[in-house]
Amino acid sequence: MKYLLKGAYHYDKAGFTKRNILIEGKKVFYINNVSDDINEDALGEYLPIDLTNKYILPGLCDVHVHFRQPGFSYKETIYSGSRAAAAGGFTTVCAMPNLNPVPDCLDNLKEEIEIIERDSIIKTIPYGSITKGQMGRELSDMEHLAPYVIGFSDDGRDVADGELMEKAMEKAKKLGKIIAAHCEDEVMSAGGVAHEGAFARANGLKGISSLSEYSRVLRDIELAEKTGCSYHVCHVSTKESVKAIKKAKARGVDITCETAPHYLILSDEALTNEAKYKMKPPIRSESDRLALLEGLAEGVIDMIATDHAPHSASEKAGGFAESAFGVVGLEVAFSACYTHLVKTGIIPLKKLVRLMSVNPVKRFSLPSGYADFSVFDLDDTFIVNPDNFISLGASTPFEGEKLFGKCLLTIREGKIVYRNI
Ligand code: DOR
Repeated sequence: MKYLLKGAYHYDKAGFTKRNILIEGKKVFYINNVSDDINEDALGEYLPIDLTNKYILPGLCDVHVHFRQPGFSYKETIYSGSRAAAAGGFTTVCAMPNLNPVPDCLDNLKEEIEIIERDSIIKTIPYGSITKGQMGRELSDMEHLAPYVIGFSDDGRDVADGELMEKAMEKAKKLGKIIAAHCEDEVMSAGGVAHEGAFARANGLKGISSLSEYSRVLRDIELAEKTGCSYHVCHVSTKESVKAIKKAKARGVDITCETAPHYLILSDEALTNEAKYKMKPPIRSESDRLALLEGLAEGVIDMIATDHAPHSASEKAGGFAESAFGVVGLEVAFSACYTHLVKTGIIPLKKLVRLMSVNPVKRFSLPSGYADFSVFDLDDTFIVNPDNFISLGASTPFEGEKLFGKCLLTIREGKIVYRNI
């Protein structure tokens, strides 16, 4: 198809400019300012879409999602997850390997890739696992996986054995791949369900200490420095991790990190004993949240990723003590961040675009140069209602909230993959 996207504010490095955009095939064929002449008669073959006063962003990219297939399709499928992503404005996502079978060798990975090729409407790129079966004992078949994966991660699990992590980093370095680490000392956090702080104490819940995260971050920084591996910290949640990553960056370690919307927007003071607030790492204290915001401002935190982690309704029934770790994020992430971070003046819109698209594309060398766009009406609001989610998961800490920023259109390689206009 050929499209003429008319009159929206289009993001580029300098900011936002009102433009007309022509899309032809997979590529952007032409962009002009609306003040320039555009001869619509000559453009008869292009389907016009009036986007006056809307915002056209580069397609959003999420380097941390759980699409649960193969193995756990009762929680989410690549079909439902990719459509949920498109509805949230995402055109590229990276899928974590806590699956069954775990993509720890080519045969297992092929199973996942076949489903992606059949069912995904956006670009879904898998991670390979760091260790066999994510068991933390032997390395996966990293060499053979490397050409097909975005990087390596044991997300959801700790790699407790430092020597093994060092070997993984050496290999990843040789293969030119990134290691994306779930930093959690699982011995220390065992049995914990909420941040070790005011909320856990008040509700008689076993805590997950900040140390259980940042002790791993500190170890891995040493290993990344020693091996020269490209290293990325998943879902940073503590002020100590931010501080450690800042120092490591200052001395030239090849390190980046992500955090998720809920860690930037909520702290444990605001929680109630409901499963929609339960995830790993947990929502931390207000001082942690403020340190994350400072980390965003200073560029210590490179990107926002959702950690979209759907579970079934029964797995998320009950409160903190009984329910599974994980909340969904794809369909509300941009709007939640826009409402709480941009509209409040904490960060400018163009910074949010960098955090949710430009920076992950650069760091993970994600495919670029295509007509990948997401279009938002930033003045329109909606109430977060999980009954309307495309994702099979429904648990979100933003349930019931009124958010600004409605996704109208998502275009992946020149094809409309979501339309709500
Ligand atoms: O809350 C979480 N859920 N954190 C993780 O690290 C894993 C994820 C999942 O897979 O459910």
